[in-house]
Parts: sequence; structure tokens; C-alpha cells
Amino acid sequence: MTRTPEKTDRLIALLDGVERMPGARELRLLSYDLLGAADPVVDVGCGGGRAVAELTERGVAAVGADPDERMLAVARTRWPEGDFRAGDAYRLPLPDHAAHGYRADKVFHVLAEPQRALAEARRVLAPGGRIVLVGQDWDTIVIDTDDPALTRALVHARADRVTAPRAARAHRNLLLDAGFEDVHIEIRTLVLTGPEALPVLTDLAALADDEGRAAGWMAEQRARAERDRVFVAVPMFVAAASVRSTRA
Ligand SMILES: C[S@@+](CC[C@H](N)C(=O)[O-])C[C@H]1O[C@@H](n2cnc3c(N)ncnc32)[C@H](O)[C@@H]1O
Repeated sequence: MTRTPEKTDRLIALLDGVERMPGARELRLLSYDLLGAADPVVDVGCGGGRAVAELTERGVAAVGADPDERMLAVARTRWPEGDFRAGDAYRLPLPDHAAHGYRADKVFHVLAEPQRALAEARRVLAPGGRIVLVGQDWDTIVIDTDDPALTRALVHARADRVTAPRAARAHRNLLLDAGFEDVHIEIRTLVLTGPEALPVLTDLAALADDEGRAAGWMAEQRARAERDRVFVAVPMFVAAASVRSTRA
């Protein structure tokens, strides 16, 4: 993993912000429910480890895998009881068919080879195992604004910085192509109307070609925040599927 420690720390701060967003907890709970009774579960790209801790609390044997050693160190400090292992979506730290559940939350957009990752998911999952993918589509962030043209340009510029910005809209087809069955799709929208939206908006504004326009755009959003008129919506795509059971 080539990410600098500073970059990992910034990502952790960003993810902590996402975890505090209205609706984020409900989204995680939905992902656990869609895993059904799967046990053990591997949380791929586990980040700061909250899902592993929450699954463990629910009595599930959960393993968090992440290639970023610094991320793993944070997860181990925050959740000392958690089982966190160095691992990559393409090479998970589990023997064949050892897991009954596979979860990846906000991970497939960083993967250049999603089919290779799903082949690895098939390797570690037992017959009848469940897979749950959660992710945002980086081209569909919705922002109320007086400057829709610049807003569209900023959203697309941000999407273009992501390895696979539209991975989430492909979840269903990726899972079907990888041989998973009973694919179920849900979309839950995170809606930000308070100051928690400002870091997301600042991150976008930084991508403008023209500093003056970026400053004007951000000033409009800050003025909106003062009047309680910010509106940002981020649709989150949730996909669940199963590995064919040998009994079927
Ligand atoms: C946006 S974060 C999401 C973290 C966590 N799942 C969450 O929802 O907070 C993406 C995570 O995927 C990890 N990651 C990056 N490349 C990966 C890969 N090839 N395989 C598995 N995880 C990867 C990153 O280190 C990071 O922890």
C-alpha cells in the first residue's frame, strides 16, 4: 500500500465524518441485516474497524481486512477485541470457503479489477454464503446551488479522481457476472442539510479551475448553511447476493 501516513489520517478523519452523518448508522445496520445469519464474516477494506466491532457486538465472528497498515493500527487501537488482518481484496487472509459473509463498504470504487476481487470473494465464501456491497456513485452527488454548471463540473472532476467512480451502479451486473445469485439492490440516500456538509463541499470547491469562482461557490454554500438552506444528497447503493448453496 503506497498511501502516505498523512493521506491515511485524512481518510480516517473523512470516514469518521461519514460515520456521523444522518443515516450512516442505519445504512450499516442494513448491511448487517442483509448478511443474514452469516458467521464468520470478512469485512473487506475495513478502514477504522467500526463494522467489525459492531458485528462482533452482534455475536458474529468478524475479520477486518485492509492493505493499509496504518489503517489497521487505528482499527486495533480503537477496537482492541477486533480481529484485524493485513489483506487485499484480491488476496484475502482466509482459507478457501472459510467465510459465510463478505462485506465491502465504500471499497469497490478504489478497485481497478472488481471481477478479480469478486473471484476472490467466491474463493473465501462457503456455499450459501452472503455478499453485501455498499458504495456511492461519484457522479450522482446532488447539491442545491445557484451555480449548477460549476457544481456539475466539480462533481464530475471529483469523480474523475476516483479509480472506479461508477462501480456502485455496476454492483448488480458485477455480481451476476461473477456467478452470484438472488441479487438484491437497495438505494438509501444520505441527506446532509447541516454543517456536516461543509467538509464535503470544501473538498469539491478545491477542484475548481478558477479560484475566484470556487471561493464564490463556497461563500454561497456557507451563506446557505447560516440560513439552514444547505442540501446535499448522496445515494448509497447497497447490493446483496448469495453463493449457490450445495443443497439447492
Ligand atoms: C473509503 S475507505 C472505507 C473504509 C470502511 N469500509 C468504511 O466504510 O469506513 C476504503 C478502504 O479500502 C481500503 N483499500 C484500499 N485498497 C484496497 C484493496 N485493494 N483491497 C481492500 N481494501 C482496500 C483502504 O485502505 C480503506 O480502508
